[in-house]
Amino acid sequence: MSPTARSAGGNFPSPLTTFVGRRRESTATKRLLAQSRLVTLTGVGGVGKTRLALQVAGDLRRDFRDGAWLAELAELHDPELVPDAVAAVFGLHDHATTPPMELLVEYLAGRELLLVLDNCEHLVHAAAKLVDTVLRECPGVRILATSREALGVGGEAVVRVPPLPVPDPDSPPSLEALPRYESVTLFVDRARAAYPDFVVTESNRAVIARICHRLDGLPLPIELAAARVRVLSLDQILERLTDRFRLLTAGSRVAPSRQQTLRLSVDWSYDLCTPDEQQLWTRLSVFSGGFELDAVEGLCAEAVGSDRAVDLVASLVDKSILTIEKTDSVVRYGMLETLRDYGRERLDEAGETDRCRRLHRDWFLGLAERAEGEWISPRQVEWIARLTRETANLRDALEYCAAGAREGATGIRLANAQFPLWFCRGMLGEGRRWFSRMFAASDEEPGAARIAALCAASQLAGMQQDFAAGADLVARATRLADVLGDPVVAALAVQATGRQALYRGDLGVAMELLSRAVGPLREASNPQWSIWALQALGLAAGMAGDIASAQACHEEVLGVTEARGESEYRARAMYLLSLTLWRRGDRARAAELFVEALQLTRLVDDHFAGAGCLESLAWGEAASRRGERAAILSGAAEAMRQTMGVPPVLIPTMLGYHEECRRLCRSILGDRGFEVAFAKGATLEFPEAVEFALGRGEGVGIPRAEMEAPTAPMRIVVPTGEPPALTRRERQVADLVARGLTNREIAETLVISQRTAEGHVERILSKLGFGSRTQIAAWVAEQRDEASS
Ligand SMILES: Nc1ncnc2c1ncn2[C@@H]1O[C@H](COP(=O)(O)OP(=O)(O)OP(=O)(O)O)[C@@H](O)[C@H]1O
Ligand SMILES: [Mg+2]
Repeated sequence: MSPTARSAGGNFPSPLTTFVGRRRESTATKRLLAQSRLVTLTGVGGVGKTRLALQVAGDLRRDFRDGAWLAELAELHDPELVPDAVAAVFGLHDHATTPPMELLVEYLAGRELLLVLDNCEHLVHAAAKLVDTVLRECPGVRILATSREALGVGGEAVVRVPPLPVPDPDSPPSLEALPRYESVTLFVDRARAAYPDFVVTESNRAVIARICHRLDGLPLPIELAAARVRVLSLDQILERLTDRFRLLTAGSRVAPSRQQTLRLSVDWSYDLCTPDEQQLWTRLSVFSGGFELDAVEGLCAEAVGSDRAVDLVASLVDKSILTIEKTDSVVRYGMLETLRDYGRERLDEAGETDRCRRLHRDWFLGLAERAEGEWISPRQVEWIARLTRETANLRDALEYCAAGAREGATGIRLANAQFPLWFCRGMLGEGRRWFSRMFAASDEEPGAARIAALCAASQLAGMQQDFAAGADLVARATRLADVLGDPVVAALAVQATGRQALYRGDLGVAMELLSRAVGPLREASNPQWSIWALQALGLAAGMAGDIASAQACHEEVLGVTEARGESEYRARAMYLLSLTLWRRGDRARAAELFVEALQLTRLVDDHFAGAGCLESLAWGEAASRRGERAAILSGAAEAMRQTMGVPPVLIPTMLGYHEECRRLCRSILGDRGFEVAFAKGATLEFPEAVEFALGRGEGVGIPRAEMEAPTAPMRIVVPTGEPPALTRRERQVADLVARGLTNREIAETLVISQRTAEGHVERILSKLGFGSRTQIAAWVAEQRDEASS
């Protein structure tokens, strides 16, 4: 599942197979979740912990204001990445200096939701630490964990998930009574899925009962056995299972443990596979977080041939060894934990682990480098989606490079190829960690890849305001570039140094270095190099007030990216260009561009520039006195920035517009009206905020009652420039309104008729574009504050 697949209410996959029984366990889990904020489902592999957790969470999601969310930890191997993985579920990235755990806590602190942490057993310690912090800091969050062992956190309630009930094999129940046994229901259901003509009859009911009993009611073994009904008769299935159990328990009367049953049934399924299928099963176990067909071919073609690989995958799906997950445009395969562990064991026994992990790494290196090569092209959006789906595999490949002997140099290539994604997705902290591990795992030699990596890492450090690290990295890059003597690579190092100056706010130095770098970088084979330089230069020039140069830079980037059908950098260039136009006073054109840029940021899911566009659109709305829209957009922008851990105003010269916008909103809506609208905006997800900004999210408006006194009618305000000044009399009336006087009291005080007083109030409201007396009061107070300051 895409880590950024967010929608209000949660991120649950819809299972492709039916759910059976578990009423008792489900009720118990729900009851415990009401009392205890942490419930852990434990039990042997394949007993159905994950499936039960998903079912319970699906039932409960509507009881939580912010829904239910699934974080799958099975594919994660590095305990340090647990907070990142969970944060990513909510679309949180470590854009700034804030560590992911802090971002997560901050995000969850005000929310009410159910968090499902699936398959914690291999990371129990790290998971427990996260759970402990979340429970302490985020009072509205409840956690449902699945793990083969308990987490051992204070307040944890544990539900041991038992196998499904099985019938007595010696006196099998009648045909009518059979469906009472959930293990039987599961078997029959899965058998029918494999072989639609399968039916339970008087003559096979006893065998089915015995198979389910033999398999201890464990769902995974039952599924594996049932998947065989197409090729084996029920008697054959039972017979073969029984032989194995006899072998296992030879001589003793002790029944096999569940662990053994599981092992046996997996062994049994393995032995029933053809040698090619077995080989594929073990090899496919090196994937993490699923895989797609092209990767299978890459990993197994030399072993089984690429045409065969497709057929073999299909037959492993038939045998329930692989699961299949289809979305609109992609088919991904996965393997249940237990089966993958088994495959990995076999791979180890065959002494093939290292070779397969290397093949896996090579294939994903190729994938990432293809993505890098086509980043500035119409395929960029597709690549972003693909790399995001492959996060777990790419992490494994990186880990292989970081930990392997003499693999660091390849690791640097792999990290470089992923840099565009880290950069555009704001995965700054994770990117930095990988780069520094690769630097440690390889020699500091003057090569283009290493210099590019040092520059990339400095860019990430600078964005996180870690200037010491940034300076060290660019110094090293410069030193190596001097030795290498390639003018384009040298210019890249100059670009990186210029960027550091920009991040530090040293605009003069930044502009000097960046303009020096641009020329040679235009010749680089990687078009991103000149884009980085131009974008940084445009930003520096804009901040320094050199609007013309800024505009020229952004337009050049727009030209390059548009011609090549790219989206991500184009969105940013368009955003930066519209900021520049705004500053130059060309507001109408700027506003149009903000809208266009916003749509692009939505397309590439760039929250960083997206938030910027929303905020800038709010300035325009406020200037046109559409206070409510402005406040909602500001709220949405600020919430998104908070999620990313970046400050509300990133570019200091924009602070004035930001503050002016807030001030205008408050004067139009009154303080309370502003707060309500702003808070409403903060609840919008990015796509909703975009819809709203484009004028399609009309449902988002604030119920009037929340905004002002119930008696105040809302006026339709025609946007104007500055509000017209009040006459002296109207000013007097406004002051009295602010003091809380009614129209009759105003009339008495000013010795005018009540009708006249009403007329004055009406005119004040319409001149200021207000809808309520409260807003007039707020405006008066503000005027007073301004006069006295
Ligand atoms: N109640 C159920 N109804 C239908 N299918 C089930 C049920 N329980 C388990 N299964 C199926 O059995 C298989 C194993 O279940 P699941 O993955 O939930 O086990 P698990 O306990 O989480 O295992 P692991 O410890 O390996 O993660 C899955 O294919 C799942 O869909
Ligand atoms: Mg599980």
